[in-house]
Amino acid sequence: MSENIVVSGIRPTGVPHLGNIRGALQQWVNLQDNHNCFYFVADWHALFGLEERSREIAENTKKAVATLLAIGLDPDKSTIFIQSHVPAHLTLFTIFSAITPVGWLERNPTLKDMVRADQPLPYGLLGYPVLQAADILLYKGTMVPVGKDQQPHLEITREIARRFNNLFGTDCFPEPQAVLNESPVLPGTDGRKMSKSYNNVISIEDDKDTIVNKVKQMITDPEKIRKTDPGHPDICTVFQLEKPFVDGTYSADIYQRCTEGRIGCVEHKNMLAEIIWDYLRPKQEKYFYYLEHEEQLKKIVDYGDKRAQEVAQKTIEEVMDIIGL
Ligand code: TRP
Repeated sequence: MSENIVVSGIRPTGVPHLGNIRGALQQWVNLQDNHNCFYFVADWHALFGLEERSREIAENTKKAVATLLAIGLDPDKSTIFIQSHVPAHLTLFTIFSAITPVGWLERNPTLKDMVRADQPLPYGLLGYPVLQAADILLYKGTMVPVGKDQQPHLEITREIARRFNNLFGTDCFPEPQAVLNESPVLPGTDGRKMSKSYNNVISIEDDKDTIVNKVKQMITDPEKIRKTDPGHPDICTVFQLEKPFVDGTYSADIYQRCTEGRIGCVEHKNMLAEIIWDYLRPKQEKYFYYLEHEEQLKKIVDYGDKRAQEVAQKTIEEVMDIIGL
């Protein structure tokens, strides 16, 4: 066990997809054997993000927890919980609101992607990174496995930790570091980054036929019309999507056969659909199992909530003492 404390959250904004699972969440699983990990569903952040109605958030929260369990997070190794079930997140958020300059938040580059032209900017959305800082520092997290897009938020977390420590002459909070994912960003079926907002995902709920059809529609190398035409795997989305799921030898072999015109795109697509299905199917089975056994899901969440709550309460007591309230 290392001294590091790992904290990360997933926003429940839709059905989790292959990009989430093979990307950020795989990292979560890798870390749980050697670290003290706190993983939660960030339902307050979904509410702040303007994307969902609260009924959908509740539904998606269950799906997110089922996914975490399905991909191999172990509730005895990792503390798995729901953000809104631990009220201390909001307490620390409020305390940090007292010391965070609005200028830091207005300059946050991620904010520009989150605001909607058709809606006024809610006060809470401006505070999104402040809540995220509270999420992490409540558990004194030192390592935060996240995607690159979260780097600006993490910088604000460090600034808030530093400012709190300086203002109150304490070393209460560590300055956490991002742990970036080593696996490349997964392309979606249209070649852009796999993302719910692009409508190009393969989700944990897709059945085999759906996956086969989605892969069929993917664009390969437009210059490769017949099997015998030499292809360019470097610009082929099928090849790129396949990479994280196969080993280097497999990939090199496909590369060679494609460039030499010894494999056709239709055949290659069928192979990719099989690979994805083999990867997804056992996870999907567990996922649906948990959604169909809500009592079990609830028990696991209750257990995690309690463990998180204990650690969180200690931090709040310490912080209240430091600020003298
Ligand atoms: N903002 C993160 C995202 O959109 C989710 C998140 C909320 C988070 N709180 C966190 C991630 C704390 C890491 C640590 O993906």
